[in-house]
Amino acid sequence: NDDLFKNVISHSKEYGFVFQSSEIYDGLSAVYDYGQNGSELKNNIKTYWWKAMVQMHDNIVGIDSAIFMHPTIWKASGHVDGFSDPMIDNKDSNKRYRADQLLEDRIAKLDEEGKTSEAEELQIEMDNALKAEDLPRLRELIIEQNIKCPISGTANWTEVRQFNLMFSTQVGAIAGESETIYLRPETAQGIFVNYLNVQKSGRMKIPFGIAQIGKAFRNEVIARQFIIRMREFEQMEMQYFVRPGTQKEWFEKWKEARLKWHLALGTDAAKYRYHEHTKLAHYADAAYDIEFDFPFGFKEVEGIHSRTDFDLSQHEKFSRKKMQYFDPELGEDGKPYGNYIPYVIETSIGLDRMFLLTMINAYEEEDLSTEEKQDSRTVLRLHPCLAPVKAAIFPLTKKDGLPEKAREIMDKLKLDFNIQYEEKDAIGKRYRRQDAIGTPFCITVDHQTLEDNTVTIRHRDTMAQERVPADQLDKIIGDKVSW
Ligand code: GAP
Repeated sequence: NDDLFKNVISHSKEYGFVFQSSEIYDGLSAVYDYGQNGSELKNNIKTYWWKAMVQMHDNIVGIDSAIFMHPTIWKASGHVDGFSDPMIDNKDSNKRYRADQLLEDRIAKLDEEGKTSEAEELQIEMDNALKAEDLPRLRELIIEQNIKCPISGTANWTEVRQFNLMFSTQVGAIAGESETIYLRPETAQGIFVNYLNVQKSGRMKIPFGIAQIGKAFRNEVIARQFIIRMREFEQMEMQYFVRPGTQKEWFEKWKEARLKWHLALGTDAAKYRYHEHTKLAHYADAAYDIEFDFPFGFKEVEGIHSRTDFDLSQHEKFSRKKMQYFDPELGEDGKPYGNYIPYVIETSIGLDRMFLLTMINAYEEEDLSTEEKQDSRTVLRLHPCLAPVKAAIFPLTKKDGLPEKAREIMDKLKLDFNIQYEEKDAIGKRYRRQDAIGTPFCITVDHQTLEDNTVTIRHRDTMAQERVPADQLDKIIGDKVSW
């Protein structure tokens, strides 16, 4: 499993999916760039989400709100006061750690050593301290456990302090007139503060949803596991506005609908599980994660949260603008439901985690050895709708007009599909390069093509080849890669 993860990371780099940001300057921790194939795959995941959420629901619309927002928004949402991690510094190495993470690691170690009751006890003590926000107690536990800094090897710790995860910057160039603003740590608030704009301009009736895809920023202290925890990442979020009292029912619906979305890609259901939150965030009355079985264990990919009317009520309080919706529908008593602040069910998926999950799921080193010779290939078995390149087109040789014919066929197809042209190396090598980026079809143009306009089409998963008329390619590819 460790190997699988390492292989996926190096494959991602070698084939233009993910690069370390600022690599030639030795990188920037927990920040990554998506390459030529990565950005195609990422766009296709976005499209899959957008179609499922917006296009398939006539009561859900999408928006694109700004990353910068009025700073009071983050006071109202609770992020200025509450969005922080308890941190501790080692005085000898000057390294900063998350206090709860140090204890989690210790608990894992105790478990490993078979000291389960000690591990359980420590878990309870830590949970209690976190719940009570008792920072001195967290430090005491670290000292009691004699936890040492992995760099300096000493247990010479500072006190524990809360460290806010929001990045801040200044707007306005003139000293004294500038104001501190934040880079949004979630896209959700852009939806909350626009909910009445969308509702009124779109004449939306409850229940309705607003969806958004966009960047979010968190000053994560520990950068771990490649693109699982990043400082700049992307979220796909949807807030569903419902009548108070109906939130449980909608929560259950979205919880199921979102898992179905994942499974519809053909992923083995055993790779997924729900995780119920017992410690709820300040805004939530129910929360489930959808977790995926990564090579390093089950990790959250998506959260479904019942956020009550917390955010909208807070914005009403802080902005002093009415956040109520008028519901004209008649209740059981024959009277309109009237004015109220809607309750919200949120679905929030990390695009980068979905990307990693997709790569891990697709990656296979397939043994193709026969009695005569050893052979293997690395193939990305991506769902064809997600594949960065839909078909590659190869002239068999670089002469006799084959490149021209291949380009002529490509020009027709590229209006609808992302097509790649390759004429270098032997056909077998070209197949391998396309397998490695998950291209579902390879099309070879040969001398027969010039005579009867047929081509060879080779299928990625079975490696089977067939001869087909070139003017049917559009349909053959389209049938496989259209949503
Ligand atoms: N609006 C709710 C919200 O932001 P969250 O659980 O904090 O909830 C939602 O984040 C999703 O965003 C997570 O399930 C995860 O997939 C992704 N995510 C959160 N922090 C991340 C990070 N530092 N790097 C990459 N993805 C992250």
